[in-house]
Amino acid sequence: MTDTQTFARDIHKGLSAPLKHISSKYFYDDIGSGIFQDIMKMPEYYPTPCEFEILSLQGDNIIGKLNFDRPFQIVEFGAGDGIKTRQLLKKLVERQVDFTYVPIDISSKAIEELESNMLRHLPGLHIKPMIGNYFLMMEELAASKVPSLLLFLGGNIGNYEQHEVAHLLADFRKCMNPGDYLLTGFDLQKNPATIRCAYDDPRGITKAFNINLLHRINRELGGNFKTNQFDFYSHYNPVNGEVRSYLVSLVPQKVHVQHTDKCYDFDRHELIWTELSKKYTLAEIEDVATANGFNVVEHFMDCKNYFTDSLWTL
Ligand code: AVI
Repeated sequence: MTDTQTFARDIHKGLSAPLKHISSKYFYDDIGSGIFQDIMKMPEYYPTPCEFEILSLQGDNIIGKLNFDRPFQIVEFGAGDGIKTRQLLKKLVERQVDFTYVPIDISSKAIEELESNMLRHLPGLHIKPMIGNYFLMMEELAASKVPSLLLFLGGNIGNYEQHEVAHLLADFRKCMNPGDYLLTGFDLQKNPATIRCAYDDPRGITKAFNINLLHRINRELGGNFKTNQFDFYSHYNPVNGEVRSYLVSLVPQKVHVQHTDKCYDFDRHELIWTELSKKYTLAEIEDVATANGFNVVEHFMDCKNYFTDSLWTL
């Protein structure tokens, strides 16, 4: 199946369901990845500076926990712009440690920019970028016996539902050997108002990020969404730590999508669920690690305790 056929199939399934939904993995085409860069620069979006602080100020402590006795690789899933990761890599390059950085990202534009930026700042870095879907790349990685530190940063794990987290961690485990490490970014529960502002910004950048899903269906699947007839709504539930985001149809409307050859009916105020962004407690993170066969080495936190990069081993 081509990527377009998979996209069309998922959109058809999502828009035919009783609660319409579009997977948040479809946010990240080249345009959506660009809007996400803007989100990361917003003053309200605290996860990026918090994780930057962790990797800058605690990079040495993180490296100090790694027990590799030969050259290793650092494999990053969903590498994005790599500015935060660079803080960690810088420490290793400065110490002349023998390692290869393997960033993996679905967006070819993002990965090309990442490679040139990394080499501009860290000319001595060994970098072997991979473009594509994590899961296909994992098969290739599973075959390699090079000691590995896997990075899954940025709080991306928060975008997975509980059952998907179990699958994801099982996939990570499959491409790890005993003694390998996984460093995962988790956004932590905090004052609910802080979280709400990060996901519903006054300038409407997060709204544009969500509306781009409809533009993307128009562009790639021949949809005829009138995007000004949709609004954006995001809600944080401090009881379960979940931010859930939606597009809202402002009028009753019909949308046709050429690639699925179907019309989809929207009632006034009908929702399309677009994203889960789960905020964790440290106790929940520890439960997730042990339930999925990992041992927690340490939680590295920023000074406000807003975010953690949690280091686990097999
Ligand atoms: C990529 N991911 C960790 C972001 C998050 O915070 O859940 C995506 C995002 N959605 C809205 N703002 C940012």
